[in-house]
Amino acid sequence: MDLHRIQLTLGSGYITSIGLGTFTFFGEHGSLDEIEAVVGVAVEAGYRHFDCAWAYRTQGAIGKMLEKKINEGVIKRKDIFITTKLWNAHHNPKLVLGELKDSLNQLRTNYVDMFLIHFPTGEKEMERCHQLGLTKNIGLSNFTIEQTQRIFDSCTIKPSNIQIEVSPFFLNERLVKFCTGKGMAVTSYGPLGCPSHPERLAGEQGPLEDLVLIEMAKRKGKSVAQVILRFLIQYGTAVIPKSVTPSRIRENINASTFS
Ligand SMILES: NC(=O)c1ccc[n+]([C@@H]2O[C@H](COP(=O)([O-])OP(=O)(O)OC[C@H]3O[C@@H](n4cnc5c(N)ncnc54)[C@H](OP(=O)(O)O)[C@@H]3O)[C@@H](O)[C@H]2O)c1
Repeated sequence: MDLHRIQLTLGSGYITSIGLGTFTFFGEHGSLDEIEAVVGVAVEAGYRHFDCAWAYRTQGAIGKMLEKKINEGVIKRKDIFITTKLWNAHHNPKLVLGELKDSLNQLRTNYVDMFLIHFPTGEKEMERCHQLGLTKNIGLSNFTIEQTQRIFDSCTIKPSNIQIEVSPFFLNERLVKFCTGKGMAVTSYGPLGCPSHPERLAGEQGPLEDLVLIEMAKRKGKSVAQVILRFLIQYGTAVIPKSVTPSRIRENINASTFS
């Protein structure tokens, strides 16, 4: 496995190009025990990047398994990249630090590697979290070009990463180009087109069912998911496919060894 690294030129360190998405439509697509187990499968399969959020209500299970793997000597804390996100209900500056500390407690760690604003809001208190050493980097999620520019115009510590929806059916080109032009690393969420999203219409075709992609996958001897993930990595982004299925977890991280 040869994982690419995207340097955080505006922050510190790098993001590995394939991470594990951990948002699950709670209770329907993964119990906490299941999530804990799949995090173990993912660590063993080589994942070192975990995409989490306070709102996902899964951080406790993730932290439990990561701590277990660290204590067993399978991984070192410094070798994994943990993202968490500030939820919308905690935008009040008085609540930001408390939420981050709660996430750290659930994740059983002293710091995260990336702290994103989950949806557009003010940034000053995020900078304080960075200054306190509770996060190595701060970043944005679901911001438009105008909103991102506003942050750059007013911030002291630059956001080094943005997490946005990007898939073969929605390349989000203007925003991706704008953010990479600013020096931000871009992370694609929903890379597979969110096949189990409750708002997906019955029978609606996503990228996993796309005939061109199916044909390409056949030609390459890869799965359609691997072709999609590889394409988005070559597009210059990190990807964070979510799966609670061990075989898919292994399949997805092996998307970096072909063109
Ligand atoms: N910042 C934000 O606002 C935001 C928004 C949405 C998502 N995210 C992050 O991005 C991650 C990924 O997005 P997502 O979960 O919405 O969509 P996604 O990764 O595009 O799709 C996940 C779905 O694809 C299935 N799947 C995974 N690997 C597969 C494979 N190899 N072949 C076929 N199906 C496969 C999974 O099923 P099984 O689990 O049953 O295997 C799951 O139903 C989230 O988990 C979360 O961490 C962030």
